[in-house]
Amino acid sequence: MKILAIESSCDETSVSIVEGEGSNVSVLSCETATSLNLHKETGGIIPERAARKQIEFMLPTLNEALKKAFPSLSPNPEEYMQQIDAIAVTVGPGLIGSLLVGVETARTLAMTFDKPIIPVNHVKAHIYASFINHTPNFPLLAAVVSGGHTDFVLMSDHNKYERVGGTRDDAAGECFDKCARIIGLQYPGGPSIAKEADSFREDNPDIKLNLLPRPLANENTFDVSFSGLKTAVLRLKESDEGKKISLQRFAAEIEEAITDTLINKVTKIVESKDIKNVVFCGGVSANKHMREVFEGRLEAVDATLIVPELEFSTDNAAMIGSFALFNKEFKDWEDVSPDPELHF
Ligand code: KG4
Ligand code: ZN
Repeated sequence: MKILAIESSCDETSVSIVEGEGSNVSVLSCETATSLNLHKETGGIIPERAARKQIEFMLPTLNEALKKAFPSLSPNPEEYMQQIDAIAVTVGPGLIGSLLVGVETARTLAMTFDKPIIPVNHVKAHIYASFINHTPNFPLLAAVVSGGHTDFVLMSDHNKYERVGGTRDDAAGECFDKCARIIGLQYPGGPSIAKEADSFREDNPDIKLNLLPRPLANENTFDVSFSGLKTAVLRLKESDEGKKISLQRFAAEIEEAITDTLINKVTKIVESKDIKNVVFCGGVSANKHMREVFEGRLEAVDATLIVPELEFSTDNAAMIGSFALFNKEFKDWEDVSPDPELHF
């Protein structure tokens, strides 16, 4: 089965063609256009500007993804669409203007070429990014850590989710983005902080990074909280002590505090629920240091870590296609609409 998948829930415009049966997903193409440079100018996403860019990017990205997936066909929509069995699209959660661009594109294709639609939850699809290269082993714990979400979810099988914890306020990616801005680094904060933190660690391998708090660390909950961390960064930056701290050290302190906060709760869940498989996914899982720390800490409690390929950590349409291949719930185009507040 071949699926044409579309993702446009935030600031990316992505189209992918995936193929597969059972637990075997191959990505024939995945084209992603980003309006990152636009958001760098404003230090964050302005929803209206993101959606306008997505309207501009959608058709060229779609065209490119089809050309790459089917290089031997003559480039014409009819011929391409004959190869496609269904269309998958992110219906939520996300920004309404952005979601509408993807959903209306999917509905138009479905109506014109008489194809069914598989509506996809973006957060669940982040988990399925890691099933592109790994066969899922249930039960598993998924830590979905992105700019919009930080959720700890137990999956006993496909389509069986139980959220056992997660953030009570800001998402971890949001915390990276806000802290980066406080210390004067560019949007998106995750990669900017990671770059400076790496250089600090390389020069100071033995320094303990414990200047920032680990919120809720000692409380009997699987929840985390990041809004206090952001305030602590601001306070430290403005203090006399903070004025002597280098940008690189600040970045390393922030990265370590977020990493520690997350892995402490993940190991706590793994131990108390006796879980052997952990998926770490979402944009923040692109962080190299976090991947290493997660791997080591989970090995110590006898659990295996699964992460998506780097290119499928941040938002992309291949993960939407992967979810659709495992969860084939077909709908007619009339019955598909965006839901910005969609939950698990
Ligand atoms: O999953 P994603 O692409 O979009 C959402 O669904 O939110 O995640 C974007 C988030 C941003 O907050 C960004 O700063 C963070 O992922 N991010 C990272 C890294 N790359 C992206 N955070 C830490 N380290 C990275 N290397
Ligand atoms: Zn995402």
